[in-house]
Amino acid sequence: MLEVNEIHTYYGTSHILFGISFNVKAGEAVCLLGRNGAGKTTTFRSIIGLTSPKSGSIKFQGTEIIGKPSYRIAKMGIGYVPDTRRIFPDLTVRQNILVARREKEKAVWNLETIYSLFPKLKELETHMGTQLSGGEQQMLTVARTLMTNPELLLLDEPGEGLAPLVIQAMKEQLGEIKKLGITMLICEHNVGLATALSDRGYVIDKGTIRYQGTIEELQRNEEVRKKYLMV
Ligand SMILES: Nc1ncnc2c1ncn2[C@@H]1O[C@H](COP(=O)(O)OP(=O)(O)O)[C@@H](O)[C@H]1O
Ligand SMILES: [Mg+2]
Repeated sequence: MLEVNEIHTYYGTSHILFGISFNVKAGEAVCLLGRNGAGKTTTFRSIIGLTSPKSGSIKFQGTEIIGKPSYRIAKMGIGYVPDTRRIFPDLTVRQNILVARREKEKAVWNLETIYSLFPKLKELETHMGTQLSGGEQQMLTVARTLMTNPELLLLDEPGEGLAPLVIQAMKEQLGEIKKLGITMLICEHNVGLATALSDRGYVIDKGTIRYQGTIEELQRNEEVRKKYLMV
């Protein structure tokens, strides 16, 4: 579904990603782990076209997407849940969900399917964005992204800053989304929410992939965890 090959990404003259390569197969959940500043968000920005790589290749379902504008990439089926929880504070929960809707032939997501996945959002549907807790905002951000009917969902540190119970709920909901056949790429700075959901993982450090393997292998490999993750 996604094939990232040897990408080099810069902010101005700062070279951030040094030939990153990895792939995500249809139906998989894959995590990208690495310390703060390792280059996880930059990798996501490279994929979604917010910070285009200077060289390398990113293929989504076989089509090269480097150089395409973000809205085109989103329309092709890549949904991005940024770490900033972008919602409209002055709109209600219901309005926030509805304004994210995109016209698409085989649209599976609507208010009803969103509310069945996130019953809490139905309870809160008349509340304004500003009234939501961090966990509820994160839920709403994921819901808004689902409304674009993505085939591949990029989640940037979905559990960051949330209480353990909220993280647990988020994990279950993302598990449900995965069961629906949506492919996921999740990044995180430690072994946690993303690893629990993922089939495979990559470890990134200083803009370079240092390790790849199954989650079991990664969990057994104390050396890699100590060297490259926050443990
Ligand atoms: N807008 C920016 N301009 C310049 N450097 C940036 C910018 N955003 C991030 N960086 C730098 O790029 C590196 C990777 O950052 P980032 O991809 O955000 O890491 P992560 O998401 O893994 O914490 C860091 O050294 C960070 O300081
Ligand atoms: Mg980040």
